[in-house]
Amino acid sequence: MLSYYGRLSSELYDMDKPIGSSFGDVEFYMNRLESCKGPILEPATGTGRILIPLLEKGLNVDGFDSSKDMLNICENNCRKRDLNPKLFEAKMESFLQDTKYDAIILPTGTFLLLHKRADSIKALKNFYKHLSKDGRLIVDMSLQTDIAIGTVSTRTWEYSNGDIITLENKIVEVDYINQYTISHGRYEKWREGVLLQTELEYFPLRWYGVEEFKLILESIGFKNIMISSDYKLGQYPTNSEEIITFEAVAIK
Ligand SMILES: C[S@@+](CC[C@H](N)C(=O)[O-])C[C@H]1O[C@@H](n2cnc3c(N)ncnc32)[C@H](O)[C@@H]1O
Repeated sequence: MLSYYGRLSSELYDMDKPIGSSFGDVEFYMNRLESCKGPILEPATGTGRILIPLLEKGLNVDGFDSSKDMLNICENNCRKRDLNPKLFEAKMESFLQDTKYDAIILPTGTFLLLHKRADSIKALKNFYKHLSKDGRLIVDMSLQTDIAIGTVSTRTWEYSNGDIITLENKIVEVDYINQYTISHGRYEKWREGVLLQTELEYFPLRWYGVEEFKLILESIGFKNIMISSDYKLGQYPTNSEEIITFEAVAIK
């Protein structure tokens, strides 16, 4: 059994993308949520990278994640800032809350982590169920453009105390029929040439066509779907490298 957003992976996420660091998404989501008076939900909230700036802006945001390690870091990041949001451990495809949300947000392609079609449909239905009348789902995704099996990428990070983390990512499976890749991420933490910690992560990633995802949202019941690219509102994508955002309304 491989790990999934385990201790080392979560620690690295928090170091590499600290609270508030933005791909353009923090500003975009703040802008889209500005008028939101009711509760907002961020499924798969991770370390709180985007949750915390939204809370600091005065928005009422709950978060959940399937990884205990991520939630621990998120809780700690909130505590340091005297923030006390509702955080819980759950999965996108099965969470259950009494609250109806005015918006549910999934920045940075996190939704693509649901690589099995059935799970992704379950999750979208679950989001729809948890939205209030006229509530909005806002979800980002990217296309996969480099999916040859065996493709390896490596990166290295250095902590202020001199410790080093290396990550080697290797695509081990490409399923063209079911539209996903499986990669293995090998994390290693080193101090003065001695290996302190290691983790092997299972990392699946789905891809969708732009119009395919719009049709899926419509089939769940969402309406008034707006597509944006690279956080430019309403601008239809023209380049395969762009981040694509879908905003869809649950008109009930
Ligand atoms: C790339 S991180 C994104 C964190 C945060 N949303 C952000 O934008 O910084 C992806 C997160 O999704 C969580 N995750 C993956 N699959 C999940 C699922 N089925 N249900 C809930 N969380 C999930 C992981 O544990 C991880 O914290």
